[in-house]
Amino acid sequence: MPADAPHREYRSGSDLRTLRDALGSFATGVTVVTCVDADGQPFGLTVNSFTSVSLDPPLLLVCIARNARCAPALISASHFAVNVLQTGQQPASIRFSTRDEDRFGTTPWSTGETGAPLLMDSLGVFECERHAVHEGGDHDILVGRVLRASFDPTIDPLLYFRGSYRRLHFD
Ligand SMILES: Cc1cc2nc3c(=O)[nH]c(=O)nc-3n(C[C@H](O)[C@H](O)[C@H](O)COP(=O)(O)O)c2cc1C
Repeated sequence: MPADAPHREYRSGSDLRTLRDALGSFATGVTVVTCVDADGQPFGLTVNSFTSVSLDPPLLLVCIARNARCAPALISASHFAVNVLQTGQQPASIRFSTRDEDRFGTTPWSTGETGAPLLMDSLGVFECERHAVHEGGDHDILVGRVLRASFDPTIDPLLYFRGSYRRLHFD
């Protein structure tokens, strides 16, 4: 790195804002993770900690904040869905990350094969059964076994980078 380049550094024990900003320099897609509870009530939240884990068996993971109101339902649900958002779904991403929004009342959705809600017009969806839950500090690492994956290969993803929504563009 050139000597005059802007440079910021986090070290263990120093301020968490800098750590957050460092982690935010990893560009991601955006998903909404959904499930229903034992009473059939839908739950969902915006998640960008989505990672593929294994092809055989087919596993993926998401990290769920332990203090999220959705966390008890998601961690105990037998099945969940990861809805990968496309460029036009920024309003859904905001709604599913904002407290006291009527998340499912204002977003078109349907019930998937496993019972978990699927957001209409998503770029892709992974319908999963719970495979494992691992402790991860202030988050739980929810590992799902993919039962069904479907996607539209023609539409562009919604992206998140440095705390802002982004779109792909090619010059
Ligand atoms: C782009 C983006 C990515 C997020 N990723 C995660 C995540 O990976 N895990 C998580 O627990 N919360 C994540 N959040 C925060 C939750 O969406 C947010 O706290 C939500 O309101 C929690 O809902 P609940 O408390 O009603 O369950 C993210 C928010 C945004 C905007």
